[in-house]
Amino acid sequence: MAQTRHLLFPGSFDPPTLGHLDLIRRGAKLFPKLTVAVLRNAGKQPLFSVAERVALLKQLTKGIAGVQVRSFDGLLVDTVKKLGHPAVLRGLRVVSDFEYEFQMALMNRKLDPKFDVIYLMPDERYSYVSSSLVREVARLGGPVEKFVPAGVAKQVRARMKGR
Ligand code: PNS
Repeated sequence: MAQTRHLLFPGSFDPPTLGHLDLIRRGAKLFPKLTVAVLRNAGKQPLFSVAERVALLKQLTKGIAGVQVRSFDGLLVDTVKKLGHPAVLRGLRVVSDFEYEFQMALMNRKLDPKFDVIYLMPDERYSYVSSSLVREVARLGGPVEKFVPAGVAKQVRARMKGR
């Protein structure tokens, strides 16, 4: 069981979406401290580098009390242990998310029996939004404003112009 009033929200966040931001807001209301942790070895062809994603997330969360942003690599359970066993936050948008999350949670708990996860549902307006679909829409020249915060959409547009 997590011993702290601290949530750790790990993910790829490439790019951070409105769904991620919704979950961060919800988590930060429930816990005094929330750390967003960007996985360092995600996707082969990321839209944004890890440093860019950390910067975007810092910008997006600067008005939300108790939120900090960092990156991590290696096993999630190792970062969780290093941080004193915060509870991990993950989002469940649709039923199909559950299978993957369930498997990951059990694997993580086998690796560290103290590992615990809290699942939150984002607003249903974002139940179909995923970073991978946003990347696909962006790469094919579509608009992403409805799926990501305005600051992120601007960076996505700038990134696509350069390609
Ligand atoms: O945003 P994502 O891509 O769904 O996040 C997945 C993430 C980063 C939470 C997951 O891939 C992860 O924890 N990776 C770290 C490596 C690890 O611990 N793998 C074993 C998971 S059971």
